[in-house]
Amino acid sequence: MKYITATALLVVGVLGRPMTNTTDTNPFIGKNYFANSGYAAKLETTIKAFLAKNDTLNAARVKTVQKTGTFVWVTTVSGLDAIDKTIAEARAEQLRTSQEQIVQLVLYDLPDRDCSGGESGGEFSSTANGLELYKTTFVDSYAARVKSAPDLTFAIILEPDSLGNLITNQNVPFCANASAIYEEGIAYAISQLQAPHISLYIDAAHGGWLGWDGNLGPSAAEFAKVVGLAQNITAGATIRGFSTDVSNFNPYIANPRANYTEWSNSFDEFNYAKSLSPHLIENGLPAHFIIDQGRSGLQNTRDSWGEWCNAVAGFGIRPTTETNSTLVDSIVWAKPGGESDGACGPEVEGTKGPNAGLWWDEYVQMLVKNAEPPLEIN
Ligand SMILES: *[C@@H]1O[C@H](CO)[C@@H](O)[C@H](O)[C@H]1NC(C)=O
Ligand SMILES: *[C@@H]1O[C@H](CO)[C@@H](O)[C@H](O)[C@H]1NC(C)=O
Ligand SMILES: *[C@@H]1O[C@H](CO)[C@@H](O)[C@H](O)[C@H]1NC(C)=O
Ligand SMILES: *[C@@H]1O[C@H](CO)[C@@H](O)[C@H](O)[C@H]1NC(C)=O
Ligand SMILES: *[C@@H]1O[C@H](CO)[C@@H](O)[C@H](O)[C@H]1NC(C)=O
Ligand SMILES: *[C@@H]1O[C@H](CO)[C@@H](O)[C@H](O)[C@H]1NC(C)=O
Repeated sequence: MKYITATALLVVGVLGRPMTNTTDTNPFIGKNYFANSGYAAKLETTIKAFLAKNDTLNAARVKTVQKTGTFVWVTTVSGLDAIDKTIAEARAEQLRTSQEQIVQLVLYDLPDRDCSGGESGGEFSSTANGLELYKTTFVDSYAARVKSAPDLTFAIILEPDSLGNLITNQNVPFCANASAIYEEGIAYAISQLQAPHISLYIDAAHGGWLGWDGNLGPSAAEFAKVVGLAQNITAGATIRGFSTDVSNFNPYIANPRANYTEWSNSFDEFNYAKSLSPHLIENGLPAHFIIDQGRSGLQNTRDSWGEWCNAVAGFGIRPTTETNSTLVDSIVWAKPGGESDGACGPEVEGTKGPNAGLWWDEYVQMLVKNAEPPLEIN
């Protein structure tokens, strides 16, 4: 049971501050990964493109993708309505099938967003009252909408890459400036999203980023700091765990491991979870993970671990709780394959990636063809 009393949530950890009690359970068990209609609608273009080439096999495979539960990215104030739409759809599906639905959402709108990459800048700036606007116009409304649906279960990924940028990109002045803002913003989101039907996952970047031995301890300490800040706002505030590999391409189980991982113990995401876990536990944090494999099906297509933009890829392991690891709650598809990472990366069939978030149909056609395991037709 996730729902335990507030007093039971507070235990004193090794460093003497309130720690999270982690006896709650995996929220994905027994639930259907709700497949939202927004992503399915975009994939209609892909079906038509395959049919125009008389490729009925791949057209049928796209229908499988349409039925696969992916995360809804809520990245602007004007995008908050997507939460209500998804709630209404998931509720209808729950009634229709009598099967409990888990709704998967990303919360991604920090001031000074993407402080190092620059491809995914957001609508708020810390120099223009961004933190206050983030709290009052984005997080408060986000939380009210999700809290209005206790009949559904929610898994929410908090601010992909953001704390990763704080941990390793202090040399980038924009990131250094954003540090306190990011910490306070994420802490606020955690504090406002406390409810038994909501499971929060702080983003922990990926094995090629925070997985290096020297980064593991500082990462866990940073996560603990943010959870501590949240607990100062809402006593007993807790998270379920951490998301990894969001929008990235690392395999869950490397076979074979890529040469550029040679010096890392976190050479795949399974091993990243294993490497980070003792540091989380030492900091009083829950060692639970969800791992994005949406575009990790085809391995060893990159020359370096740092290639993050629209890499040659295929759809990966479909969402499942059969992870063969007690640390991993679920394999998920967090990045909706087909939405560009930015105007960067290799060309596909003579076309270039459009700006971040825009649909790139040639790319998703490639994901379908390169899927590993191959997409079943059902
Ligand atoms: C967490 O809470 C449960 C239920 O109250 C309790 O049995 C368990 O001992 C607690 N865990 C820790 C680490 O304190
Ligand atoms: C697709 O099949 C139809 C009917 O067999 C044929 O007329 C058409 O030329 C084919 N199109 C392509 C692109 O191969
Ligand atoms: C960082 O903050 C300082 C002090 O407010 C400011 O002068 C500087 O321009 C900022 N740098 C960036 C890259 O935002
Ligand atoms: C939470 O508040 C306490 C008491 O004011 C303070 O000592 C502690 O440093 C705060 N925690 C964080 C992470 O800021
Ligand atoms: C690693 O490097 C060796 C030697 O260059 C090469 O034969 C092998 O294919 C590479 N492995 C991968 C996974 O790229
Ligand atoms: C778990 O192990 C089984 C048996 O080896 C394997 O078939 C399955 O693919 C594994 N699951 C994942 C997510 O790797």
